[in-house]
Amino acid sequence: MKFLVTGANGQLGKDVISELKQRGIEAVGIDVDILDITDENAVLDFFGEVKPDVVVHCAAWTAVDAAEEEENKQKVYNVNVKGTEYISHACAELDAKLVYISTDYVFDGKGTDAWQPDDKCNPLNFYGKTKYQGELAVQKYLSAYFIVRIAWVYGKNGTNFVKTMLKIGKKRNTITVVDDQIGTPTYTFDLARLLVDMSLTDKYGKYHVTNEGNFISWYDFAKEIFSIANDMGYDYSSQRLAVLPVSSSAYPVKAKRPANSRLDKNKLIEQGFKPLPEWKDALKRFIHSLDLQKDI
Ligand SMILES: NC(=O)c1ccc[n+]([C@@H]2O[C@H](COP(=O)([O-])OP(=O)(O)OC[C@H]3O[C@@H](n4cnc5c(N)ncnc54)[C@H](OP(=O)(O)O)[C@@H]3O)[C@@H](O)[C@H]2O)c1
Repeated sequence: MKFLVTGANGQLGKDVISELKQRGIEAVGIDVDILDITDENAVLDFFGEVKPDVVVHCAAWTAVDAAEEEENKQKVYNVNVKGTEYISHACAELDAKLVYISTDYVFDGKGTDAWQPDDKCNPLNFYGKTKYQGELAVQKYLSAYFIVRIAWVYGKNGTNFVKTMLKIGKKRNTITVVDDQIGTPTYTFDLARLLVDMSLTDKYGKYHVTNEGNFISWYDFAKEIFSIANDMGYDYSSQRLAVLPVSSSAYPVKAKRPANSRLDKNKLIEQGFKPLPEWKDALKRFIHSLDLQKDI
């Protein structure tokens, strides 16, 4: 069984490669320096040479606000839609399974019910639109696919909300964080285990995956980040650092975000997969794995 992982220098791809290596599974990790997924012939040639049995497609344009800039839109489209289409086509030629990583941003965030995997998609921003079009490309070419929607991602190998909070929380005395976008975070280390478990089965389809636990706002998430770091002996105490809730309207950004990012993950249990640990437990393990002097 041979795996090919795209986006292998990225936040999730790196953890997927480590998980595969740890299990002794043969894995080829690629990033844009080895293969630009927007080059159709290069994708078909490369995949034809490697002949993977499973492809975990983590590569994407992930800069959500920059994706709104007119001068970036063609590039975003090429990576997230065309790149995914070429990879799906290559998988179809090789009879390989594809794990496509998607996002909560395919939904419009209306209501308060948790989204089911088959709910209607209606993305609010350009990044979300291209990730959704990527999903459609996967479904057009393949039947042996997993579309795995994740949300609020953090891990050791990237810039993310947790690291940003710890960094700015060191310097400031007040931080405002939005409290009207609700979801659950996803730790790439935990997700990598499930993605590998999943891809060794033929329980294909669309899935929602985040860490378990109660749904929270970004404000709740920030409070927990500071509480854990403070318990580790770093001064993120509420006496020194005030964390204030604000509404999204008070925090203007280029790309509109869904207010309701609650993802229903029951299908994981129905299909016999082991869900991820609770988000508080994951966050604690992640922050403890960082060197808060050096990494932050
Ligand atoms: N981060 C989140 O909060 C989040 C939330 C929901 C879903 N997701 C999805 O989860 C997946 C993994 O996200 P992540 O956080 O690990 O992203 P990431 O750290 O940005 O990694 C993505 C990787 O893709 C590479 N890439 C970009 N353009 C490429 C191209 N043309 N050819 C080949 N590789 C290319 C990037 O290389 P460069 O860095 O050199 O451009 C980067 O190494 C993505 O599909 C993303 O859409 C992420």
